[in-house]
Amino acid sequence: MSRRLLSVLEQVKSDPRDETAIADLKKRLVLQSLRTEFHVSKRRLREMAVYLIHEMHEGLRPNNESTLAMIPSFVKQKNAKNFSGLLFAIDLGGTNFRVIRMILERGALVGQQSTKYTIPVEHIEGGTAEGLFGCIAEKISVFMKTFPLPAALQNVAAAGGHFPLGFTFSFPVDQKAIDAGALKNWTKGFTTTGVVGKDVVELLQKEINKRDLPMKVVALCNDTVGTLVTRFFEDDQTELGVILGTGANACYWEARSNITKLPRDPQTEGSGGGNNNNKKVSFDDDQMIVNMEFGNFDSKKLLVLPVTQVDQELDADSPPEQLGKQRFEKMISGKYLGDIVRRVLIRASSHGFLPACIHEQLGKNNRPSFESRDAGLITSDRNPGQHLARAILSERYGCTGLSDADMYFISQVCHLVQRRSAQLAGMAIAAVLMKTGKQDNATVAVDGSVYGKTPGYPRHMMDAIGAVLGDNRGVRVKYTSDGSGLGAGYIAALTQV
Ligand code: GLC
Repeated sequence: MSRRLLSVLEQVKSDPRDETAIADLKKRLVLQSLRTEFHVSKRRLREMAVYLIHEMHEGLRPNNESTLAMIPSFVKQKNAKNFSGLLFAIDLGGTNFRVIRMILERGALVGQQSTKYTIPVEHIEGGTAEGLFGCIAEKISVFMKTFPLPAALQNVAAAGGHFPLGFTFSFPVDQKAIDAGALKNWTKGFTTTGVVGKDVVELLQKEINKRDLPMKVVALCNDTVGTLVTRFFEDDQTELGVILGTGANACYWEARSNITKLPRDPQTEGSGGGNNNNKKVSFDDDQMIVNMEFGNFDSKKLLVLPVTQVDQELDADSPPEQLGKQRFEKMISGKYLGDIVRRVLIRASSHGFLPACIHEQLGKNNRPSFESRDAGLITSDRNPGQHLARAILSERYGCTGLSDADMYFISQVCHLVQRRSAQLAGMAIAAVLMKTGKQDNATVAVDGSVYGKTPGYPRHMMDAIGAVLGDNRGVRVKYTSDGSGLGAGYIAALTQV
């Protein structure tokens, strides 16, 4: 773990008696040291990629010891064009969730309505399963009132019929079938009780039934899987689905034969045992999407992650059950980027390299933590006076009277933390393509606000992909907004054909 920043701050020490020129030089040295600390070298990116591939292999085996859960999704390649009809999708992955109604005609989306709802924090932090899933079902009822079913379909509901519903649940799930999976552990700060170890499809269906809603949960998927499938419906060279938002994760098409932890599939492999009816035991060409849960990469031993002291502190402040977990995600995703920036700024300020108001204000417990979205807005403000960035710092965080040099320092810190995230995400994408051998021709579908709203992020990510693969080869990264929600609907459709 690097202690570079801390040592530089302590050795160089700002002194109020310093002449301006000396103070500026010291500040520059601190920034330079931050640049080195938050830049991941090409060699380190490649080391990480090779180790990630090793962890992928391990995670696909039974009884693995890998830090990657490598969860089979039970989503296989099928012809989506065989489905026409109305269905629903629910997307839960953070404090907001969405209800979507989709109409597909021969697999093509011809109509959709969707609404976003906020889940009250009491259902997320320490609430109960009934509270959380009840709240979701309640909002589905509200949605049904806002968007009544088309007249022609109302009799389906009246006669007790059900519409297929796909459920995007973006947490690690021990998936047993396309429509069954128990939560392994919460991530992203959720601590709702009574959900770990329970089948989340059952929990949701129970609350839907209580309210007589005409829906049957037929598919459960991760947001990465939804993103991959959404893009795959348009472009069958889509190999990866990636989320870079509140959380960070990826999934990809894996050969079914490599997923050795999955029980053998009697449908594709014949009856086996003593009753072999001569069906070919071969599924070499079968592909299944695997949800990597890469947020937990290298969390056990920190063998390759370029962890700084700030990252260590951030982890140490996690809720007890999330301590030492999701270490890769804690360096990449939107839930944490703002907090990394905040911690670096507080350090620089308490050592005198930024005005005291920074550590006084950003260190207060009752303030909202520094948001990744604000860090993005600060980097995007390239106007000479940086009025937007100043307004964010003063209005949202109470930090006023910052000089131009302070503003430069702050936006550089935001930029460096964001660039490191993009480099690590690019490394992981490149590693997956190396593992599957698809680096010469692949589409990568990416969704999430960190990717979509951070200036320069796509470019830095692409550079890192190039650094690992030698050049960018034939990799096309496509922003697939809404993929996580719509994908659940598409997957629900696949279960009906
Ligand atoms: C967290 C979840 C994972 C999800 C990701 C992005 O890492 O564990 O399932 O895909 O966030 O939302």
